[in-house]
Amino acid sequence: MAAGLIRSGDDKMADQYAVIGNPIAHSKSPLIHAEFARQTRHDIAYGHILGDPDDFPDTVRRFFAGGGRGMNVTLPFKGRAWEIADQRSPEAERGGAVNTLTRLPDGRLGGDNTDGVGLVRDLSLNHGFALGGKRVLLLGAGGASRGVLHSLLATGPGALVIANRTAAKAAALAATTATDRVEGCGLEELEGQDPFDLIINATSAGLGGDVPTIPRDCLAPGGWTYDMFYGDTPTPFLRWGREQGAGQALDGLGMLVEQAAESFFLWRGTRPATAPVIARLRGAGR
Ligand code: ATR
Repeated sequence: MAAGLIRSGDDKMADQYAVIGNPIAHSKSPLIHAEFARQTRHDIAYGHILGDPDDFPDTVRRFFAGGGRGMNVTLPFKGRAWEIADQRSPEAERGGAVNTLTRLPDGRLGGDNTDGVGLVRDLSLNHGFALGGKRVLLLGAGGASRGVLHSLLATGPGALVIANRTAAKAAALAATTATDRVEGCGLEELEGQDPFDLIINATSAGLGGDVPTIPRDCLAPGGWTYDMFYGDTPTPFLRWGREQGAGQALDGLGMLVEQAAESFFLWRGTRPATAPVIARLRGAGR
């Protein structure tokens, strides 16, 4: 789509988008999408909505009934958004989670999940990590892991191990992939396994200031660590990676911006440049 000021039918009104979550005040999505809109000269308004777990479907429906064009969904509502979507992309369908809702031309709601694309694009395009053939360890078996698992698998890692505090959940998640390249186990079962080229944290342990307990020699010499979470100060897992001497210890800021860019692309048909937005947020946060 050519750059230019794009307006909705009513040319006084910008197209309405929002992110919904709880909590939501900390969300960087409004800032990221405002940057994308400025850069691509699209006329959009992007706000944030504090979701109420008791009223989530009605809040979403009200937003779209009022003319909303698209919505990002963050914790803890990605599963609820999956239920609400009338039509789901394969990524959303497989992951059981939706982070992007789009009003379709017929008024129904489309559900996508751009988290996996965001993670893979950040690792491979922004940082030059070639996932093909690598041994990858994915920590956690909750919604965050489920949402990125199939995108990771599609990059062709040599092995993908899902390790979780509760081993049965990891085994169940691994079984959804129906390939023997993916194995699920408990954290303690990592002892003695061949080291990994990349360890990705998809557990919520960091929210409580913790790091999942994994053996020290899990990381191959020069291997990378990636925390899917991001904070204005270094996350516990990012610090852990640095302490292990990781080739690169990354946080989830790049993924956050990349998943937003993929949502923007789905809504607006144009892909914004992410590097300047990542740099800007990095400069503002540290
Ligand atoms: P969501 O689906 O929203 O991601 P979740 O299902 O509660 O939330 O998943 C959180 C993930 O973080 C789980 O893999 C959880 O491990 P368990 O399945 O054993 O609960 C993991 N997790 C949370 N706190 C953790 C901690 N302190 N150490 C290790 N893993 C932790």
